[in-house]
Amino acid sequence: MILILLGPPGAGKGTQAKLLAAAFSIPHISTGDMFRDQKARGTELGKKVQAIMDSGGLVTDDITNSMVDERLARADVMSGCILDGYPRTVGQAEHLDRLLAKLGRGVDRVLSYEVSEEALVDRIGGRRSCPACGAVYHLTQNPPSRVGTCDKEGVALVQREDDKPEKVRNRMQEYAAKTAPLKGYYAGRGLVVELDGLGAPEAILAETRRRLGR
Ligand code: AP5
Repeated sequence: MILILLGPPGAGKGTQAKLLAAAFSIPHISTGDMFRDQKARGTELGKKVQAIMDSGGLVTDDITNSMVDERLARADVMSGCILDGYPRTVGQAEHLDRLLAKLGRGVDRVLSYEVSEEALVDRIGGRRSCPACGAVYHLTQNPPSRVGTCDKEGVALVQREDDKPEKVRNRMQEYAAKTAPLKGYYAGRGLVVELDGLGAPEAILAETRRRLGR
């Protein structure tokens, strides 16, 4: 099963993707996480995308598509995958269609998470993550056991550079201009499942599974 998770910054895509990946035993593929990993390791790709990401802009389709091509060529996606943050432009969606067609596959469902602007602002403002393992917390909704410290790694949590208010504005604009049109792109093929992104993560997962029939 190949699922695409769609929704604005802070909609909870990463949170739901991890739950769905565990529930269906298929890999969670987050292009945001992949780029952040490249940045943290100081690779050539990481250096190339650093400024774009920190400003809240989108990495170019060419760079993103080739990174995804490599990832989708790995054996662990045979049974499917959860695509979180990809595709993000119509160009990327067309590229994915061509890639999957070559593999004799297709997108099964596009999960579109609807969340009010007020909740998005709160979620992004309160998000903290672990620089060592990437675990994501929220100051009030999902706090670590010890204030400001990762439960798994014991290191200080940080705020993402692109979660600062002026960068968030840019990310929201990019989403509205380039990513939101994807909903229409997939709706035309009857693939979109609209979901209320408000509520406890486990309740959203349960509703998602109900709508998927599994
Ligand atoms: P990416 O990492 O994909 O960022 P995003 O799409 O802006 O999404 P976020 O990570 O901000 O939010 P999310 O929806 O995953 O929410 P989360 O679950 O964390 O991309 C970052 C950057 O990389 C882009 O700006 C771009 O530069 C580049 N990039 C990535 N992919 C690209 C592509 N395909 N093309 C070009 N460039 C690309 O939740 C947010 C917070 O809310 C957390 O604190 C969480 O604990 C909390 N929370 C989650 N669910 C709930 C809930 N149900 N109730 C209460 N709190 C909740």
